[in-house]
Amino acid sequence: MTAKPIVLQDLPPDLERERLPRHVAVIMDGNGRWAKRQGLPRVMGHKRGVDALKDLLRCCNDWGIKALTAYAFSTENWGRPLEEVDFLMALFERVLRKELREMMQENVQIRFVGNLNALPLSLQAEIERSMADTQNNPGIRFTVATNYGGRQEILHACRAIAQQVQQGLIQPEQIDEALFESHLYTAGICDPDLLIRTSGEMRISNFLLWQMAYAEMYITETLWPDFDRAEFHRALTAYQQRDRRFGKV
Ligand code: IPE
Ligand code: IPE
Ligand code: MG
Repeated sequence: MTAKPIVLQDLPPDLERERLPRHVAVIMDGNGRWAKRQGLPRVMGHKRGVDALKDLLRCCNDWGIKALTAYAFSTENWGRPLEEVDFLMALFERVLRKELREMMQENVQIRFVGNLNALPLSLQAEIERSMADTQNNPGIRFTVATNYGGRQEILHACRAIAQQVQQGLIQPEQIDEALFESHLYTAGICDPDLLIRTSGEMRISNFLLWQMAYAEMYITETLWPDFDRAEFHRALTAYQQRDRRFGKV
C-alpha cells in the first residue's frame, strides 16, 4: 500500500464531526476545460478526473462521511462526439476493474444508478461484479450516476407505480413520498445534504432532481481535476456555516 499523505488525513480540527454532511453529491465538471488549459485533448481531463474522484472517496472515508454520490455520465452526454463517449465508457470499465480490489480493502460499497441497460455489455458486466462483490461492505456508500438523468429516474418510478396501481396492488391514495422514493434508483440512501459542483456552472444539469430538494449547494470555480482535499475542506467549512432551516424559522 502506498503511504497516505499526512496532511489532512484526519478530520481538520476546525470542522465539527457531528455536523458533517451524511451524504455528499458531486457534479464533477470542467474536465474538458482543464485539459484545454494544459494544451491536452479533452479526454486527458477525464483521466485526471478519475484521480480526483479517487482522492475524494478516500477523503470521505478518512473523515467519516457515510455516503458519496458522483455524477459520471448524464443521459445528455451521449450527445458528445463519439470518440469522447467511447473513451469514457472504456475508462469507466478499466478503472472499475483496476480499483475493485482496493475498494474491497477499504470496505467501500459501490453502487451504480442510471439506465445501466444502455451501457456497453462489457461495462455492465464490470458494474454488476463490483456491486455484487461490495454489497455487504460496511464502509462508505459510493454511488456512481452513469447514464443518469433525474427526469428519466422520475419517469421510471412513475411507470413502476402506475403498473402496481393497474394491477390493483396499491391504490392511488397510497402514493406518498416514501412510496415514491422506494422506486427511485437511490432507494435506501438518504438525500444529499451537500451538493458540490466544480467549474463554476450554476446549474443542476438533470442530477438527482427529486433528492436535491433541500441540499445545500456549493459551487467552486475550480475545475474537477484540481478538486483536492483542501478544496473539499473549504466546501465543508462553507456547509457548516449554513443555517439549514427546511422552511422553518
Ligand atoms: C465533466 O467534465 C465530465 C463529464 C461530463 C463526463 P466536462 O467534460 O463536462 O468538462 P467541460 O465542462 O467541457 O470543461
Ligand atoms: C454534468 O456536466 C454531467 C456530469 C458531470 C457527468 P455537463 O458538462 O454535461 O453539464 P452541462 O452540459 O454543462 O449542463
Ligand atoms: Mg461540462
